Amino acid sequence: MASLSGEVGGIQMANPVLLAAGILGTTGASLKRAARAGAGGVVTKSVGSIPRDGHRGPTVVQVEGGLLNAMGLPNPSYTNFQEEIDIGREGGAPVVASIFGSGPQEFEEVAEGLDADGFELNLSCPHAERYGAEIGCEACKVEAITRAVKGSVSVPVWVKLTPNVADVIGLGLAAQRGGADAVVAINTLKAMAIDVESGRPILGNRFGGLSGPAIKPVAMRCVFDLASALEIPVIGVGGVASWQDAAEMIMAGAAGVQVGTALGRAEGYGIFRSISEGLSNYLDRKGMALAELKGLARRFS
Ligand code: SIN
Repeated sequence: MASLSGEVGGIQMANPVLLAAGILGTTGASLKRAARAGAGGVVTKSVGSIPRDGHRGPTVVQVEGGLLNAMGLPNPSYTNFQEEIDIGREGGAPVVASIFGSGPQEFEEVAEGLDADGFELNLSCPHAERYGAEIGCEACKVEAITRAVKGSVSVPVWVKLTPNVADVIGLGLAAQRGGADAVVAINTLKAMAIDVESGRPILGNRFGGLSGPAIKPVAMRCVFDLASALEIPVIGVGGVASWQDAAEMIMAGAAGVQVGTALGRAEGYGIFRSISEGLSNYLDRKGMALAELKGLARRFS
């Protein structure tokens, strides 16, 4: 079987298929379960400096082509989260803490308060006032926040970017200037759904973030653009649901892929192993190494 092990964003992993930040990363038990099911690494739900209940419901709705969510960054705060990371680590895969804040100081406080194998800076949630994409769409803030966290921790720092901008490369370059070890592309696309009978927006927050198959081509384009422009690795996320999707993302230039919404499908956690096995079989069939797949599509540009 072709080997899938290697570094993803500065972290050694058994394979490049990771659990994406999201609802399954709220507990140590689910992080551990994803790791034991074959994820090469697991990313927690985003954690901030103070406990938050999140937006009022409904917070998730199924729409054509994926899921629309506006959870509103609910979390128990970093002071109540270390145990979940420790339990997650029992699964045997690196645990990356997704963190958020309103500026460099808050990000730094959260990062310094957690012991994780890496940090993923959420500069991209499309529906939280003062957080996420509200600050992550400004290159100077992305750079300053990345630099602050990088200066305060000794583990790799990834920056999760928003696709809801005209120039995602500009944001990637800002993260790179700030010292990021990798960028993660993409977070959800800002979107909404309306109930036709009542005329009411369905989500309690009106707007939310679209994930799932509908956003895969957007993610692919962002990964391709970023991998062409940056020197640091790009980790692809958005609509990955099969080994073919993962292969496509790696061909666009991704060093690893994250799986989120697809975990809601019937195979559940089994998706990690089926993607890894599919990738490995594909490499065997083609007589290729994983490194040869990376960025393959860029040869045709
Ligand atoms: C949420 O908690 O609202 C989702 C987080 C995100 O989209 O980054």
